[in-house]
Amino acid sequence: MLAGELGPGVRKAMEIVTALGRIYGANRLVPVSSVQVAGVSYKNLGDAGLEFLSEWADQGARVRVPTTLNPAGMDLVRWRVLGFDEAFAQRQQAVVEAFARMGVTTTCTCTPYLVGNRPQPGDHVAWAESSAISFANSVLGARTNREGGPSALAAAIIGRTAAYGLHLDENRRATLRVEVRCPVRSPADLGALGYLVGKAARNRVPFYEGLEISGEDELKALGAAMAASGAVALYHVAGVTPEALAGADVLAPGAERLVIEDLSPGYSALSQLEIGTLSPHGQEKIDLVWIGCPHASLAEIEQVVTLLDGRRVRSALWITVARAVREQAARRGLMAAVEACGGQVVADTCVVVAPVRELGFRSMATPSAKGAYYGPTHAGLAVRYGSLARCVQAAVEGTWPGSS
Ligand code: F3S
Repeated sequence: MLAGELGPGVRKAMEIVTALGRIYGANRLVPVSSVQVAGVSYKNLGDAGLEFLSEWADQGARVRVPTTLNPAGMDLVRWRVLGFDEAFAQRQQAVVEAFARMGVTTTCTCTPYLVGNRPQPGDHVAWAESSAISFANSVLGARTNREGGPSALAAAIIGRTAAYGLHLDENRRATLRVEVRCPVRSPADLGALGYLVGKAARNRVPFYEGLEISGEDELKALGAAMAASGAVALYHVAGVTPEALAGADVLAPGAERLVIEDLSPGYSALSQLEIGTLSPHGQEKIDLVWIGCPHASLAEIEQVVTLLDGRRVRSALWITVARAVREQAARRGLMAAVEACGGQVVADTCVVVAPVRELGFRSMATPSAKGAYYGPTHAGLAVRYGSLARCVQAAVEGTWPGSS
């Protein structure tokens, strides 16, 4: 491959993977069972990124393992209905086509594990979206480093990645022991907790004690928050996550201790940004309520429908999902229920990677810590963070509840 016998596209991929391996001291490559590529939105890639991908496809590069994509800059099917610009849509479609020419499955989601790209425990994979990386490592027990867009694609093209970092047993033990001494009752609480722990952990591996978790959606929220405020790619929860359950000693000797007694600093850090516009009654106007960061599961859509209870929304309401999840939601009547209230189930994209200011949004409420964290910097939105119930109420009222 390095000698170019399989063509320039494969050589370029091998050069990227081996260069990273050398930098990080890897002494071998490992086969990967799947890849998830980030850097898909034309908003972030621009023409230079599109050209880079098209050239790689022209050079004959083809993926060797199942490969999916991170969210694109728009809903690839319903972009017109949602108000996306025609010129942007054409460029975004060209990006997706370049990936398709390389054999990539054009499923654009940060939750590939909800729609069929679900690695087995111990599998080596090369994933690039921070919340998906955290989920693959921590919840599924697979092994991936935090890949960049090009390095993940390169791994897909050669079917291998360099064995360093979280591919190796010795780097998977926890180096930060987190004792949670306050009640954690909801996914928003988990988001606030994850925000606080991520800030303290940076790229270390936390081990949680005293944390009750009721399902994968909660782990998804916790992991996404830590991956945003820190660079946490793997965490363990006593009695819950596979490597903590396996009975192996997941705690490294000398792990530092972190005690969390109060979540309110997490809530205020994620919500303190000034909301620009006030309603005539002095309340904070919310243009958009965003649910589905990471992309929502069917159960999460169901919760929104229950909370809406048939009421019409005054703000825009987006529930972002993988396309296959939207199809399931449509079959179960959930999509019609959301639309009947004036909301949208939006596939293939998310608020952080879509050009939402061009759609006229300036302020947002979200129950996602990751969405709240990136909303101001990546989407240019003022943000309020709160529970799912409070965010749905904000959508119905068009203002942030209790803000007058
Ligand atoms: Fe996914 Fe976008 Fe959030 S990629 S994790 S929905 S910022």
